[in-house]
Amino acid sequence: MLQTGRLPVQTKGNQLLDYTRTAETFDWRSVESAFSWSVTGRVNTAYEAIDRHVDEGRGEQIALQYSDPSRNEQLTFAEMKANSNRFANVLRKYNVKKGDRVFIFMPRVPEFYTSFFGVIKVGAIVGPLFEAFMEEAVKDRIADSEASVLVTTPDLLPRVPRQELHSLKHVIIVGNDVDHGNDNIISYYKEMKEASTDGEPEWVDREDPMIIHYTSGSTGKPKGVVHAHNAMIQHYQTGKWVLDLQPEDIYWCTADPGWVTGTSYGIFAPWLNGVTNVIRGGRFSPGDWYQTLEKNKVTVWYSAPTALRMLMAAGDELIRNYDLSSIRHILSVGEPLNPEVIRWGMKVYGKRIHDTWWMTETGAILIANYPQMEIKPGSMGKPFPGIRAAIIDDEGNELPPNQMGNLAIQTPWPSLMREIWKNPQKYQEYFRLKGWYISGDSAYMDEEGYFWFQGRLDDVINTSGERVGPFEVESKLVEHPAVAEAGVIGKPDPVRGQIIKAFVSLRDGYQPSDELKEEIRQFVKNGLAAHAAPREIEFKDKLPKTRSGKIMRRVLKAWELGLPTGDLSTLED
Ligand code: WTA
Repeated sequence: MLQTGRLPVQTKGNQLLDYTRTAETFDWRSVESAFSWSVTGRVNTAYEAIDRHVDEGRGEQIALQYSDPSRNEQLTFAEMKANSNRFANVLRKYNVKKGDRVFIFMPRVPEFYTSFFGVIKVGAIVGPLFEAFMEEAVKDRIADSEASVLVTTPDLLPRVPRQELHSLKHVIIVGNDVDHGNDNIISYYKEMKEASTDGEPEWVDREDPMIIHYTSGSTGKPKGVVHAHNAMIQHYQTGKWVLDLQPEDIYWCTADPGWVTGTSYGIFAPWLNGVTNVIRGGRFSPGDWYQTLEKNKVTVWYSAPTALRMLMAAGDELIRNYDLSSIRHILSVGEPLNPEVIRWGMKVYGKRIHDTWWMTETGAILIANYPQMEIKPGSMGKPFPGIRAAIIDDEGNELPPNQMGNLAIQTPWPSLMREIWKNPQKYQEYFRLKGWYISGDSAYMDEEGYFWFQGRLDDVINTSGERVGPFEVESKLVEHPAVAEAGVIGKPDPVRGQIIKAFVSLRDGYQPSDELKEEIRQFVKNGLAAHAAPREIEFKDKLPKTRSGKIMRRVLKAWELGLPTGDLSTLED
């Protein structure tokens, strides 16, 4: 069976999609009747994901199953509705209005989700921040978006340079010892206790902005990708047809809500579909992860290749200690999923792992291996019904099967980003080839319409599924007193997909040493984020630059991989 390179249909859900037929006939408009705008013309995603289940008699069902050794907690849809109403009223009290940006910088605790929906309920734009961000990363994002409110915890507060963030009017602290001496500081628990659970969400237009995620490109600081409430159409429908979510499911998405997978599929898709959503924060640990699957009887599990490879490395013995028989459907996203991992998954979980492809900018899954589709291990699958994907050349012409080129999507689709915050030019760049959305990934399509990922066409680094912009890391590196110049690339790595490697030239008076490498590494880690710190640093007397002074990452990559450096005619000397 495996020799043929195909894995047959295996999972059977109730919502089975006849892929071929549906792909021909599906129309997004058929999904719209599921939402309140079809009646009222107005909508709010928080209502559709939470309150609607209460109105439809599912209020007592467990919505949030918090799975943390130190705090076991469950919240029903009714409780989530009441809590998020409370938080919306707190925000109203402090004058937060539709369109304002409210950031949440917190670990994955239940208060995160309460705050998140409270922000959406007042019509504001929610900005989740990855809990591992350090000062500079936090500052860049809050400053660019001009957020007026931040929700955070006492231990993360020191990483927020408030004196430099002039837009910030209020900081809401989720913690017990809150200093009220400062009138910008608000105690979450105190306010929540006093706030009413009444109130209607702000009914907004489906095109109104709802969430902003910062993501990295090859140049410049991270950019704010803005999604509208309208994205819910696609979160909901991909939740049904790709995640195969059904009412009795217990679902676990391992991604942090600081990244898009952690919101589109860690929050919206499961709750729009009314399933029980397992939330577990903390660091990766094989034993804890298996325990989470076993204890919560998870049925649908959405994770990522690096984590799966790490589980594979932890050994098959470990798995025998856990009863994982509840699992019906496993999915993966974020980086190439190796065929070995799929084969291993068949062996140890008895399930195929279903790859899915999409990006922060696309808002939701666009290409996938559907539950009832044959899988070709190594392929990302086929486009979602209603989505047309193609491989195009650099002029925007479609290429025939089996030719590598730009992976592009015909516009629009419901969850496509609506804006890059305050940067219309960056936004337009995505659509520069005859109106196609250009992903920046290279891929090919085979004769049967399966898409095969080949790599990134720009310098964006994907390390453990986390997207890192080389510019952000380089900018931090050159702030170190010893560093004259720095160029950063992704170096292939068997577990993490890529690791960050920095080439550094030193200022006069500094000598290369292992201690200095470690010091520079820590400098990036403490300033930006642990995942953005180079795992490898190599000192060079000089870095290859163009005559205009731009470091040529292409040449650094060629050095690293021992490849020819190509055309160097623009090199400085
Ligand atoms: C990569 C994550 C190979 C790709 C949802 C894309 C993948 C970038 C896959 C987006 C996959 C995502 N196979 N590569 N199945 N899925 N990628 O914005 O390079 O954090 O452009 O969104 O991850 O990363 P982002």
